Amino acid sequence: MRSSPLVLGVLASGRGSNLQAILDAIDAGRCPARVAVVVSDRKDAPALERARQAGTRAVHLDPRAYPDRPAFDGAIATILDGVGVELVCLAGYMRVLSAELVRRYRSRILNVHPALLPAFRGLDAQRQALQHGVKVAGATVHFVDEGVDTGPIVLQAAVPVLDDDTEATLAARILAEEHRLYPEAIRLYAEGRLEVAGRRVSVRAGA
Ligand code: GRF
Repeated sequence: MRSSPLVLGVLASGRGSNLQAILDAIDAGRCPARVAVVVSDRKDAPALERARQAGTRAVHLDPRAYPDRPAFDGAIATILDGVGVELVCLAGYMRVLSAELVRRYRSRILNVHPALLPAFRGLDAQRQALQHGVKVAGATVHFVDEGVDTGPIVLQAAVPVLDDDTEATLAARILAEEHRLYPEAIRLYAEGRLEVAGRRVSVRAGA
């Protein structure tokens, strides 16, 4: 049984604009969830400050203080479990999750990626798109599996690539879609409307 509002834990390494979009959507009543904790591997991540501003618990964990990735992720899991997290949202989280963490929250971890997966996985997706010369780019929200940006796709939105685009202008156009899609995907999850069958995620009709 999912609680209402759904309890979220957000992992973020940087700017935190997707975290902000989630917080804003919750405030506006567009996303029946509550961010219980934000964890960052970077002490100076603006995402932590955004969390504090919103009155949300903000935790920095230094990966260098742990012997390996499973140990670091174990510490993250302890924090997430401690607040009763139901859904983990990666929002600009720059570390690959250990297989243990993925297994622990199987089908309960979402990520947002600035490309139309399966194209342009990994880092600098917008640069990859420009270098490849695609005419359409976009954003993807997907469940996280053991691979990098390989999990089942929940929602996607496309944007045009313009002739005079730079990495920055394309990233900004994509980011606006990320900010729309991510709270929407969380809402669908919270409402129990996402059905995962292998790689395919279908959205059940709402009440
Ligand atoms: C976003 O483009 C997201 O798709 C990618 O990293 C960026 C994070 O931005 N995974 P922000 O920290 O949410 O502002």
